[in-house]
Amino acid sequence: MSHPILAQTNPHGADLVIDCNQCHNSGSWNISLTDMKFDHSRETGFPLEGQHGKIDCKKCHEKLDFKGLGEACINCHLDVHEMSVGDDCKRCHNANNWLVNDLSEVHAENGFLLEGAHAVVSCVDCHKSGNSLVWDRMAGSCSDCHMKDYETTASPNHKELGYSTDCIECHSPMSAVWNSDFFHYFFPLTGGHNGVSCIDCHSNQPYQQANSECISCHQKDYDAALNPNHKQLGFPTDCALCHSTQPGWKPALYDDHDQDFFPIYSGNHKGAWSSCTECHTNPSNFSQFSCIDCHEHNDPRDLADEHDDVKGYVYQSQACFECHPKGSE
Ligand code: HEC
Ligand code: HEC
Ligand code: HEC
Ligand code: HEC
Ligand code: HEC
Ligand code: HEC
Ligand code: HEC
Ligand code: HEC
Ligand code: HEC
Ligand code: HEC
Ligand code: HEC
Ligand code: HEC
Ligand code: HEC
Repeated sequence: MSHPILAQTNPHGADLVIDCNQCHNSGSWNISLTDMKFDHSRETGFPLEGQHGKIDCKKCHEKLDFKGLGEACINCHLDVHEMSVGDDCKRCHNANNWLVNDLSEVHAENGFLLEGAHAVVSCVDCHKSGNSLVWDRMAGSCSDCHMKDYETTASPNHKELGYSTDCIECHSPMSAVWNSDFFHYFFPLTGGHNGVSCIDCHSNQPYQQANSECISCHQKDYDAALNPNHKQLGFPTDCALCHSTQPGWKPALYDDHDQDFFPIYSGNHKGAWSSCTECHTNPSNFSQFSCIDCHEHNDPRDLADEHDDVKGYVYQSQACFECHPKGSE
């Protein structure tokens, strides 16, 4: 098939194995990108995407031998970033244009959130290389850029109070200002503590250490609690034994009861009562209790029958408890 004249005029070198008519049609040697059968994306390891699909073959294949081109972007494009972000251009670019749409993602990948206050800061306030396209590596922790702010704080005076310089212990990296979104990790402000103003707990600003024991702030509530009467009953003053910060102090959950006195959160009486006073019928004296208010003589599970053969049976709560200390057989 090889025609001597054609071989002479072939500018592609003798070892091109692709048929001439894959790229040329008989009209002329000019190339029509739209009519060409040759499929670059399929035949080579380099799909002609974006702008690459619209340009002359010769822009890349100056010598028409189609050889020696690497697919890495940096082979053909100048690294305007002077190697500050490495040579893997594809990490941020594609062949459509050089714009980078999602800079916040680029930052997130570096463990730095370009959100809150930082979303509106101009690039060069952080990237100070002097060239707006060069991003020298820098440390990304708050104190690397905000140490001056730390040192000049007045309320509270961080330096004097010895606060950590790891700002995110207390400040959210997403926040827009230093004075909100304060993260109160030392004492989670949940339930009834949510929305309470700082000064109600930190009576002497600037936010000196507050006592975290419940009783230090809630003595009055303890004294006023009548149902059950905490004071008279000598309830422990560690409120957290029975309470969470749930508003209204309800429900109370006295975990230690099962171990120390009588199983009420486990065993047969789990779910069988709704208020302490169903057993402790006198709210001012929890050493008293009643079993027979529930377990009556005319109970379907006729107690008289159950105890027919039981020696020493009496219909009296203290006796029930002595024979059934765990509320089971
Ligand atoms: C893979 C595609 C491809 C194949 C296959 C191919 N060519 Fe080409 N050819 C080109 C391109 C691209 C040009 C440059 C067109 C331009 O200048 O716009 C070209 C240009 C030419 C020219 C003009 C040279 C010049 O200096 O203007 C000739 C002649 C030519 N080809 C001959 C051949 C012959 C003969 C064959 C078969 C042996 C062949 N080509 C196979 C892509 C191909
Ligand atoms: C944006 C640059 C670019 C353009 C434009 C481009 N190519 Fe390529 N081409 C490449 C690269 C890069 C390779 C090497 C891919 C690889 O390593 O597998 C290649 C490979 C080839 C090969 C295979 C060479 C071989 O030995 O396997 C042929 C043939 C080829 N191109 C033809 C064309 C033709 C025809 C056009 C115009 C329609 C064109 N190219 C346009 C970048 C380009
Ligand atoms: C083989 C050479 C070659 C390779 C490899 C290559 N390009 Fe290109 N690219 C070109 C040429 C040639 C142009 C045409 C514009 C020009 O002359 O700069 C171009 C154009 C572009 C454009 C359009 C530029 C503009 O100003 O509109 C973008 C964007 C682009 N390339 C990105 C990439 C990316 C990303 C990669 C890696 C995935 C890549 N290129 C790989 C040669 C290449
Ligand atoms: C970590 C992300 C990242 C990497 C990796 C990266 N670039 Fe960029 N590049 C950018 C950003 C951001 C811009 C500015 C884009 C904008 O303004 O939207 C940019 C812009 C450019 C521009 C346009 C410059 C101008 O004057 O507008 C070129 C060209 C460019 N990059 C080439 C490259 C090349 C080549 C590589 C690989 C060596 C590369 N980039 C790697 C993020 C990156
Ligand atoms: C509030 C500070 C801050 C602002 C504002 C900021 N950056 Fe960054 N940027 C960083 C930090 C911190 C890193 C991570 C640096 C490191 O790991 O060395 C980073 C990393 C980068 C990287 C490199 C990503 C990589 O993967 O290599 C690019 C590109 C970048 N920033 C571009 C920009 C551009 C463009 C803007 C403006 C739109 C901008 N930055 C605004 C702090 C900022
Ligand atoms: C790469 C430098 C850089 C890093 C790292 C950085 N910032 Fe910033 N930040 C800035 C710049 C620049 C501004 C804008 C100027 C200013 O207000 O100080 C800013 C502004 C702020 C503001 C708004 C201040 C105001 O009153 O308007 C807050 C809040 C803030 N940063 C918190 C943080 C926190 C929290 C961290 C750590 C997660 C952090 N920053 C890490 C550079 C940085
Ligand atoms: C132990 C917790 C804690 C740590 C750690 C901490 N802060 Fe604060 N910061 C606070 C509190 C509390 C406020 C006052 C919040 C309010 O008023 O709502 C505050 C307020 C500020 C203010 C505004 C107050 C003023 O006087 O201007 C700045 C600025 C500030 N912090 C910067 C920092 C920086 C920078 C770091 C890290 C280097 C940091 N903080 C670490 C607790 C902390
Ligand atoms: C419901 C009570 C309560 C409220 C409301 C409260 N705090 Fe606290 N705060 C505490 C307790 C208790 C501690 C001490 C925890 C510990 O040391 O275990 C504490 C500790 C702190 C500390 C650490 C002091 C140090 O020296 O380490 C700071 C700072 C602080 N609070 C600031 C605030 C700010 C600002 C507010 C308002 C946004 C606030 N607190 C609201 C109870 C509260
Ligand atoms: C041994 C468990 C226990 C401890 C410890 C305890 N409480 Fe209670 N508290 C209860 C129970 C049970 C209730 C009743 C809950 C219900 O009605 O659902 C209650 C109810 C209350 C009530 C509402 C009383 C009323 O009269 O309406 C207040 C206020 C209260 N507790 C405050 C405190 C405070 C403050 C502390 C710690 C200083 C504390 N409690 C410690 C078990 C306890
Ligand atoms: C530093 C002071 C302080 C400490 C410590 C503290 N509280 Fe509070 N608590 C408050 C303040 C102030 C309020 C809101 C005013 C109020 O309702 O008494 C509150 C509200 C509550 C409420 C909601 C009361 C209601 O009427 O709805 C509960 C429940 C509560 N705290 C439980 C606890 C428990 C449990 C502890 C111990 C783990 C505790 N608190 C420790 C200051 C404190
Ligand atoms: C199903 C019955 C039952 C329920 C319900 C019950 N208890 Fe008891 N509780 C007992 C029994 C029985 C004892 C007696 C243990 C003893 O005398 O050794 C007791 C003992 C106690 C004591 C010790 C009294 C003392 O002075 O020795 C306290 C305090 C107590 N209960 C608190 C509670 C609280 C708070 C609740 C509600 C959260 C509760 N109990 C619900 C059966 C119950
Ligand atoms: C609030 C009502 C109530 C009170 C008060 C009460 N019980 Fe019960 N008790 C029940 C219920 C309901 C069951 C049945 C549970 C089941 O069948 O799962 C039960 C079951 C029992 C059983 C049978 C267990 C078995 O193996 O079937 C015993 C024994 C028992 N209670 C003892 C006591 C003693 C002792 C007291 C007093 C300290 C007491 N109960 C107080 C409601 C109560
Ligand atoms: C002297 C010890 C003794 C006293 C007092 C006593 N019981 Fe019993 N009780 C037993 C024995 C033993 C059995 C098992 C009888 C059987 O299985 O035949 C039993 C069985 C029961 C059962 C049935 C368990 C089942 O399997 O259904 C219940 C309910 C019960 N007692 C509740 C009570 C109550 C309530 C009281 C107080 C009014 C009480 N007992 C007093 C020893 C006693």
